[in-house]
Amino acid sequence: MAIKYIPEPFRIKMVETIKMTTEEERKEKIKEAKYNLFNLKGEDVYIDLLTDSGTNAMSSEQWAGIMNGDEAYAGARSYYRLVNTARDIFGYDYIQPVHQGRAAEKVLFPAFLHEGQYAISNMFFDTTRAHVELAGARAIDCVVEEAKDPSRRCKFKGNMDVKHLEEIILEKGPENVGLVVMTVTNNSAGGQPVSLKNIRDTAEVCKKYNIPLNIDAARYAENAFFIKRDEEECRDMTIKEIINKMFSYGDMFTMSAKKDTIVNMGGMIGVKDPVKNEELVIKIKANCISYEGFITYGGLAGRDLEALAIGLEEGLNEDYLRYRIGQVEYLASRLDDAGIVYQAPVGGHGVFVDAKAMFPHIPYYEFPAQVLAIELYKEAGIRTCDIGSYMLGNDPDTGEQLHADFEFTRLAIPRRVYTQAHIDVMADALIAIKERAHEIKRGYKITWEPPILRHFQAHLEPIEE
Ligand code: F0G
Repeated sequence: MAIKYIPEPFRIKMVETIKMTTEEERKEKIKEAKYNLFNLKGEDVYIDLLTDSGTNAMSSEQWAGIMNGDEAYAGARSYYRLVNTARDIFGYDYIQPVHQGRAAEKVLFPAFLHEGQYAISNMFFDTTRAHVELAGARAIDCVVEEAKDPSRRCKFKGNMDVKHLEEIILEKGPENVGLVVMTVTNNSAGGQPVSLKNIRDTAEVCKKYNIPLNIDAARYAENAFFIKRDEEECRDMTIKEIINKMFSYGDMFTMSAKKDTIVNMGGMIGVKDPVKNEELVIKIKANCISYEGFITYGGLAGRDLEALAIGLEEGLNEDYLRYRIGQVEYLASRLDDAGIVYQAPVGGHGVFVDAKAMFPHIPYYEFPAQVLAIELYKEAGIRTCDIGSYMLGNDPDTGEQLHADFEFTRLAIPRRVYTQAHIDVMADALIAIKERAHEIKRGYKITWEPPILRHFQAHLEPIEE
């Protein structure tokens, strides 16, 4: 039985019409898009679950903030509002706005990583992995084993395997590990949370070997909600207190603010102790000025900084977070009823359906998760994405197709955008596809791909039976 849907703690003040299309039209559109969902026009999509990033609905307070944004090139009032709010929440003294998460990575990572070095994470998101490689280093994932079995229900499946982390550090040599990255929540493992204890234990290993710990902080508030719900020691803490504690174990953070901060564009870098890390802050400022813009706007308009500052506060609201996680749990419970396998228990920002379980006969190199993503579009106009071998790409050294641990099709849920009826459309579409999954015999082949982050641009073609 599906669980109860938690009612929205907001009402709708403005609407955006979405186009209805027929299955025939969608089959034509996806063919024209070379079977790459990133090539579809947004207007040809009914429910867009490609990402929860920058697709959020801002509040009336944030829209009012847009009008109040200070557009001064240097030292804007909105910059100070953002910096003061972020300092208060995260407890880091240096806050650098940038235009999005990957900009934070581009500005920060070269200060720690170069040729011959390694970065280790509970799991790298694709752009984060790309920036490790662009700095000349290699990225190693080190998530706990239980994350690799989608049907195994246990808490904090996003955790770092701390024992294995230490083994990798010793194998590669501590001097060759430039950075440890803790991703909260662990997006690539299914938006799975990381426990406070695990962040603390990881920080201890980093300290022992003198390796800096960077928090990849895109979904810090959702992670804090899980900690409050599931970690005994934090039950009576506020979300803000938990976030403050989580960040107290890191040295820096890179953040895509397009997620939990509920805006459409923005990012940040934080450095906990800028006095001790004076050289680092000088490098961040220099890179920021070169790549992003002057340090007090970092590639954003003043109005963006203002909306970001307001979103930081709104994202901590517990009624909102309960509804947010509840909405995803409701979708998951409908899939439980239908025997559809996903990364369980469900994580924070979406449902990651196990396409390997749906299409056991389609091998990783024919991209089962991309197959399911294409079927969802054809079935109901729902746009999702592959988080599997298709996204992982090729080995940067050998050029061979990598075999991902997971073949997930991700239904990422934008914040404050879709209603329970939309969520039911998602569940019904997945159930319909499951019923005819055995009729889909083969997957896709790539006919063209760029050298890095290929899934955004590649062309595909169905393999004929
Ligand atoms: N880190 C994590 C954990 C992410 O999920 C993302 C983006 C980034 C960094 C990069 O941030 O997009 O602002 O440059 N994730 C989006 C997604 C794109 O769909 O999961 P960005």
